[in-house]
Amino acid sequence: MRCYGRTPINEDDVHYGWLNGDIDYALNAPYFTILFEDEDESEQYGYQVNIGVITCPIADIAALQGSFDVRIELAENSEGDASENTAENAGQDITASSAAAVYFSRVGNTDFPAGVDAVTSASLQADNGTIKGNAQLIAEWISEEAGCETFEILTDEAYPADYDETVDQAKTEQRNSFRPVLRSDLSEIGQYDTIYLVIPNWWGDLPMAVYSFFDACDLSGKTIKVCITHEGSRFSRTVDTIRQLEPDAEVTEGLAVRGGSVKDEEQNIRQWARENK
Ligand SMILES: Cc1cc2nc3c(=O)[nH]c(=O)nc-3n(C[C@H](O)[C@H](O)[C@H](O)COP(=O)(O)O)c2cc1C
Repeated sequence: MRCYGRTPINEDDVHYGWLNGDIDYALNAPYFTILFEDEDESEQYGYQVNIGVITCPIADIAALQGSFDVRIELAENSEGDASENTAENAGQDITASSAAAVYFSRVGNTDFPAGVDAVTSASLQADNGTIKGNAQLIAEWISEEAGCETFEILTDEAYPADYDETVDQAKTEQRNSFRPVLRSDLSEIGQYDTIYLVIPNWWGDLPMAVYSFFDACDLSGKTIKVCITHEGSRFSRTVDTIRQLEPDAEVTEGLAVRGGSVKDEEQNIRQWARENK
């Protein structure tokens, strides 16, 4: 089961391994998985967060064939409030002056093999045992400083784990004006007044999934503050493209942050978010 939106977790719950019958959320995928075998060898797999256990015999799970639609809902959190920071509650009543941080990162849209090395890979950020994307980190810091929710643009089809293959695929998508199908329904982002859009520069422009996002949303009359992460090209055509896609929105240049420097820039990013609420 692929995860829609950002799943709130307690960092202290992240661990290696599982017991057969566990239902785990794998942070590096991200997947919810019913783990019904290989308990003895599971210690090698990190990034696991346990969210429950099955209540039927393990053999019943092992015997299942085909695919099934499953809906996972938060019934109630510790404060008795079922609202969470995910795309699913974008449809709630939004107060008059509200903001949302919307981001797209390669990480959330790629199925990496277990144990992928975020430490030696410049394009992945290790964050408390979790792999995060550059745009994701920036969006999270903005959301903390601006006091707003985050929403992730997620494609239906994952991009290849191999970086160069993703680069090639993105070029082909751009040449063909291809619109990836989105897994996350962000159509109600238009209820927010201010959208911090945090995205990577892909081939001088928006990742095509961000075009899909704009196809799904009407952001007329809204303010879109664009923050770009890149490896040298800064904004390129991104802001001009967004102005064309959303001619009736106020689109402003926010931050351009080099991917390899994102962590060094944390305080500057947080300060920018405080000053640009
Ligand atoms: C498909 C693809 C195309 C890219 N094209 C550019 C580019 O044209 N200019 C640039 O400066 N960086 C480019 N990059 C680098 C990313 O913008 C940069 O690594 C960014 O920090 C990644 O953010 P993320 O971790 O949120 O996905 C590209 C990366 C990918 C995967």
